[in-house]
Amino acid sequence: MASDEALLGRGTAPGKVILFGEHAVVYGRPAIAVPVTRVRAEARITAASRGSGVLIQAPDLARTIALATAPPDDPLAEIVRITLSALGLPSTPDWTVTVRSTIPIAAGMGSGAAVSAAIAQALAAAGGRAFPPQTLSELVYQVERLYHGTPSGVDNTVVSYVRPVYFRRGHPPLPLDIGRPFWLVIGDTGVRSATREVVGDVRRAWQAAPDRYERLFDRIAALVDAARAAIEQGDIAALGPLMNENQQLLVEMGVSSLELERLISAARAQGAAGAKLVGAGRGGNMIALVPPERAEEVARALQRAGAVRTMITQVGDSLESIRRGREAAS
Ligand code: PMV
Repeated sequence: MASDEALLGRGTAPGKVILFGEHAVVYGRPAIAVPVTRVRAEARITAASRGSGVLIQAPDLARTIALATAPPDDPLAEIVRITLSALGLPSTPDWTVTVRSTIPIAAGMGSGAAVSAAIAQALAAAGGRAFPPQTLSELVYQVERLYHGTPSGVDNTVVSYVRPVYFRRGHPPLPLDIGRPFWLVIGDTGVRSATREVVGDVRRAWQAAPDRYERLFDRIAALVDAARAAIEQGDIAALGPLMNENQQLLVEMGVSSLELERLISAARAQGAAGAKLVGAGRGGNMIALVPPERAEEVARALQRAGAVRTMITQVGDSLESIRRGREAAS
């Protein structure tokens, strides 16, 4: 059996949240996104019996797919196909690809991109290779198009580079230095929402009222640039109000929901400095910026307000910032 065979390769990729700029990023404006390493996708490659080709197993989704007969628009089969072609192996290997993920699906945390990145890295490892982040990101982007039509490229970038980025479509991602670490509470509404549909609705609304939507996107872009400066300078106090303003513009864009608003209000009422939805919206997750001593309290308030799951995560490494502070002082 495949599971008794030795491990040939392994790959992992984290979840992500967009701190600022979702939706506007599809229209060429910048966005800031960070990896969330507390949740991740993992893929493992084991040898399969001779002549069996590539078999993809996704036990969380209760799916088993034979690559040879998979439909062309199946995202799991597609990442395997394009990665094998990028690796240029002489023949199709007899491998079983098993993928698991703790990243909530259709919830604004980039689960599709992370699953693709984990599979591509595992296949590369099994082929005796490792992809640089840019190559990995380009492979994942091709599959993102199957998940949601016109992806900006922010998801594949963050899960491939695994670091905070300032991202603009068509430009190399700029790594973002976190001047001082900060804490987020992530709350899941439990409402699944397909990115493709929400992005499509925003496109139709933009087509119907281009001036109004362009103005919203420009205002979001200004917030993203202000947030970038605040994050790099460690001015955490400035970030909360910027998050709240970004949320207001997302409401005006029509992508929030009652469930999201309930969680966002609950977080603010418990002392969060700012809160907003993350990803496509209409469901999925929200984030709240919190002083660390309020994090547990805010998480409990989110649960009382209906969150099906909460997570507390730190952005930026405290040791790194202490080191940088020492360097600056010396
Ligand atoms: O819902 P997610 O995690 O796939 O994020 C979507 C982010 C959008 O800006 C709405 C779309 C995109 O392609 O950037």
